Amino acid sequence: MFARLVAIMTAAKSSRPLNSQMTARYNCRVAGTGSYLPERELTNFDLEKMVETSDQWITERTGIRSRRVAADNQVTTDLALNAAKNALEMAQMTARDLDAIIFATVSPDQLMPNSACVLQKKLGARDIMSLDISAACSGFIYGLSIANDMIAAGSYKNVLVIGAEILTRYMNYKDRDTCILFGDAGGAVVATRADDGESSRIYSHHLHADGTISDLFVFKMGGSAYPFSHENLDKGYHYMNMKGREIFKHAIRTMSQSCAEALEHNKMSGADVDWIIPHQANIRIIDGVAKHFGIPTSKVIIEIERMGNTSAATIPVSLDRAVRDGRIHRGQNILLTAFGAGITSGSLLMRF
Ligand SMILES: CC(C)(COP(=O)(O)OP(=O)(O)OC[C@H]1O[C@@H](n2cnc3c(N)ncnc32)[C@H](O)[C@@H]1OP(=O)(O)O)[C@@H](O)C(=O)NCCC(=O)NCCS
Repeated sequence: MFARLVAIMTAAKSSRPLNSQMTARYNCRVAGTGSYLPERELTNFDLEKMVETSDQWITERTGIRSRRVAADNQVTTDLALNAAKNALEMAQMTARDLDAIIFATVSPDQLMPNSACVLQKKLGARDIMSLDISAACSGFIYGLSIANDMIAAGSYKNVLVIGAEILTRYMNYKDRDTCILFGDAGGAVVATRADDGESSRIYSHHLHADGTISDLFVFKMGGSAYPFSHENLDKGYHYMNMKGREIFKHAIRTMSQSCAEALEHNKMSGADVDWIIPHQANIRIIDGVAKHFGIPTSKVIIEIERMGNTSAATIPVSLDRAVRDGRIHRGQNILLTAFGAGITSGSLLMRF
């Protein structure tokens, strides 16, 4: 207890993020990954018919050619359910083995009950802690970091971490700055306590937030500040609103900084990392982060072309796709990094 207090005070003093490794009793590893993309595809050519844009502009400026759109009868927990089943199967577990569900999303099925509880029911999981977290595109890294610390402390053994979104329901398809970027998807991992001597483990995580620039990316409607009303509807507060150019600058800076922290903390260099999985927001942002570290594109997992930005889902979906097609395999060092509304950001380094 005293050691923990000292660790907290030291971390606060140095204003460095508190790292789980300070107090870990156990290591945490990723036992299984899963993902799900809805079938319906919205291509750049489809968008050309909806808003003043072109396939050429979108491809050149973002790297996106198409994105997926959930079917009208699908909700966010449906995407998560498919992803979770795949992750559990890979982990050779059933939903009954889970001790907690952490669901990262900014597009939940509804405000209450939380999506984790809805998913708990759909999965047939036991009476376990089930909570949503809201950290936008950094949500999955936040969620996996929390799961790591819960497992490291010894309170939980198997934690399902979800990143799932249906963002297309909050898009203004007259706003070309925003609507071309986003899509729908669900991703999942099963985080579990590593056995003694197992090399697979999460090494560290470094999480950040800068609320002073939170107005760069907002979704106002439905909260206590902007309750549902005709007036707020007329103002378009039911759509996501973004200052894209501003965010762009912060994206490269924050992701590069948190990757540098991860490498420094673990006394590693870019050469020690087998794969980097950055949040898939814009190919130019991804290239910018890789260039910052001198990491060749061949070591970067890039899935943005057919998926777009799916917020909390981009990293678990990209991870799962790379695991399943054989790019990523056990024993490799994987660096995850994200930024998102808030402005939140962070990195997580693990041996898969
Ligand atoms: C949004 C984003 C793609 C815009 O790209 P950009 O290169 O910064 O483009 P700009 O905003 O500087 O606009 C350049 C021009 O293209 C135009 N433009 C913007 N969107 C366009 C579109 N979809 N089609 C065609 N032209 C477009 C602009 O109006 C502007 O025209 P102007 O020069 O005549 O004024 C880019 O800034 C970005 O990806 N930002 C990060 C967004 C993000 O990741 N958000 C999620 C946070 S997790």
